[in-house]
Amino acid sequence: MDSNQIQNIKNQAISQILDVKTEKELEELRVEYLGRKGQITNLLKEIPKIKPEKRAKFGKLLNDVKKAVEEAIENKKFEIRNSKSETEEFFDVTIPGEKPPLGHLHLITYTIREITKIFEKIGFTRVRYPEVEWDWYPFEGLNMPKNHPARDEWETFFVEGLKHPKCGVGVLTPHTSSGQLREMEAHKPPIRMLNIAKCYRRQSDASHAPMFYQFEGLVIDRGINVCHLKGILDYFVVQYFGPERKTRIRPFHFQFTEPSFEVDVTCIVCGGKGKLPNGERCKVCKEGWMELGGAGMVHPVVLKNGGIDPKKYTGFAWGWGVERLFMMKYGIDDIRLLFSGDLRFLEQF
Ligand code: PHE
Repeated sequence: MDSNQIQNIKNQAISQILDVKTEKELEELRVEYLGRKGQITNLLKEIPKIKPEKRAKFGKLLNDVKKAVEEAIENKKFEIRNSKSETEEFFDVTIPGEKPPLGHLHLITYTIREITKIFEKIGFTRVRYPEVEWDWYPFEGLNMPKNHPARDEWETFFVEGLKHPKCGVGVLTPHTSSGQLREMEAHKPPIRMLNIAKCYRRQSDASHAPMFYQFEGLVIDRGINVCHLKGILDYFVVQYFGPERKTRIRPFHFQFTEPSFEVDVTCIVCGGKGKLPNGERCKVCKEGWMELGGAGMVHPVVLKNGGIDPKKYTGFAWGWGVERLFMMKYGIDDIRLLFSGDLRFLEQF
């Protein structure tokens, strides 16, 4: 090894570096000279073998060469990154920087806030009650005695090792109706409750998730009847979905309401006709209607269990899925998309 040879390598490296156009080529050169088996690296490895009297001189020379090549690479990298194109060299330093990608509220959080706003306007107050609950609140107190077959609908998760002497075993709330009794215990009528909470059921497919949200309304006062219920439904549906959507109530059965209903909304896809413009049947709905969820007039037994006199007061309640509501608005057919965190989906909103 002599100093000429070293200078030659340096000159060659730097002239090649000055010629490259892309970061990829630049990286290839870096590996060729400074990589683990690069030309300069190999020479540096030779230093210990050089005679002691010459070692310091070569060592310094080599290190200077290494530094010079590194510097040339850094400068070139900066140049490549900042030159917009080969022809246009002007770099406008006053251009605002690129904005970092900004997210938005999760769709469910957003929907919950939307629902809350709509009901707050007409005097409802949002409340929260326990998600790990005693059997009494979602079942027994809601007129579903132990072993009653109606309980099967709520495919419940039980919490091992929890047992209350009066209120029974521990469960994960399978519906927000558990909040009805909690609310009656906490407040005297008039009541206008909006309980939005996580619910849990042993279920999982395109339209059911083991954890989902419901929003439950409860109104109790003197002289409350089905017309009030229908009025609130219409108000909500028009506010959330838009003025062209209609609602209807169908007779149904729940243990804790009497009479009970299921609430339907006209389908977003076919506009309530059940048929598409080309005459084909709409696949999204049943004859123009989509099911929103359950509702009904609070059962007198439930009022009594909540410490309210059913001779003086009546009330109504509803309980619907938050995800379902969102899916119905945008025509989404798989609930799992809402929990996947997939940006390709989330960024569409
Ligand atoms: N809790 C019921 C369900 O989960 C819905 C419901 C709520 C029905 C309130 C009537 C009154 O299906």
